[in-house]
Amino acid sequence: MEIPYARWHAAVTPRRSRRQYDSTPLRPEEISRLREVCREFRPFSAARADLVTESPDRILRGAVGPYGKVKGAPALIAFTGNMEDPYVQEELGYTGEAIVLEATAMGLATCWVGGFFRSKVAASVVGIARNEKVLAVTPVGRAVERPTREEVLMTGLGRNHRRKPLAELASGLERERWPRWVEVALEAARISPSAINRQPWRFNVEPESVTVSVDSTRINLGISKRLDCGIAMLHIEVAALDCGVRGKWDFLEAPLVARFTVGSG
Ligand SMILES: Cc1cc2nc3c(=O)[nH]c(=O)nc-3n(C[C@H](O)[C@H](O)[C@H](O)COP(=O)(O)O)c2cc1C
Repeated sequence: MEIPYARWHAAVTPRRSRRQYDSTPLRPEEISRLREVCREFRPFSAARADLVTESPDRILRGAVGPYGKVKGAPALIAFTGNMEDPYVQEELGYTGEAIVLEATAMGLATCWVGGFFRSKVAASVVGIARNEKVLAVTPVGRAVERPTREEVLMTGLGRNHRRKPLAELASGLERERWPRWVEVALEAARISPSAINRQPWRFNVEPESVTVSVDSTRINLGISKRLDCGIAMLHIEVAALDCGVRGKWDFLEAPLVARFTVGSG
């Protein structure tokens, strides 16, 4: 499937993690569109997404993360990876964020949940192969219109949505010399979601490329920072495409993650 870059780029800014839903079931046309994107957007054979419309609460029950419970979701999407692939984390982040941006474009709310869900229950619902694991899920549905008191308090009165400035995240070519696509792409990456909003991505800019790396290779909460980086990689690519710039990703060894090079796609 070709990336619908204008639609997904437009979803980057309005997307926010929402944890409390109004239980309204997804409409049949929403289910079929989400299923279609899960099926068609499979750029890597080791990463896939599956929509689950039956009792997502069983998977999310007890999902008390640092930011409170996820409640009332009518459906969820499970993100499954083949753990034998060395780049499974970044591939899954990239693939999963595509579904998240599509859901956002459809007016639906989401929230990546990486650490506090029942992975084995999710695995039994979606069915996994021997080498696979459900690494993350997201509820999907209509969020309650105004964040509840609990949601506002648990997200630190909005603090957990704040981001570091690009000056802290980027190195390499001086900013005055960045091509416009780099400015737009790194802004899209800067506002990516990441576990506990840790913003582990770093960006090295060269005239024709952006290299993504992690701030440290330590794993916290059992969620790989390379998964966060995969999410930022998709944001970089949809923004670049929206600026008319096509490129290609090459995966790299830790602490580097991947390099996006213009024109070699
Ligand atoms: C890989 C990943 C795992 C996450 N896991 C959880 C989680 O277990 N529980 C939770 O409430 N939020 C989780 N989040 C959501 C982050 O807390 C959220 O993205 C971050 O605070 C930034 O806020 P925003 O998404 O509203 O921009 C996760 C996000 C990512 C990307």
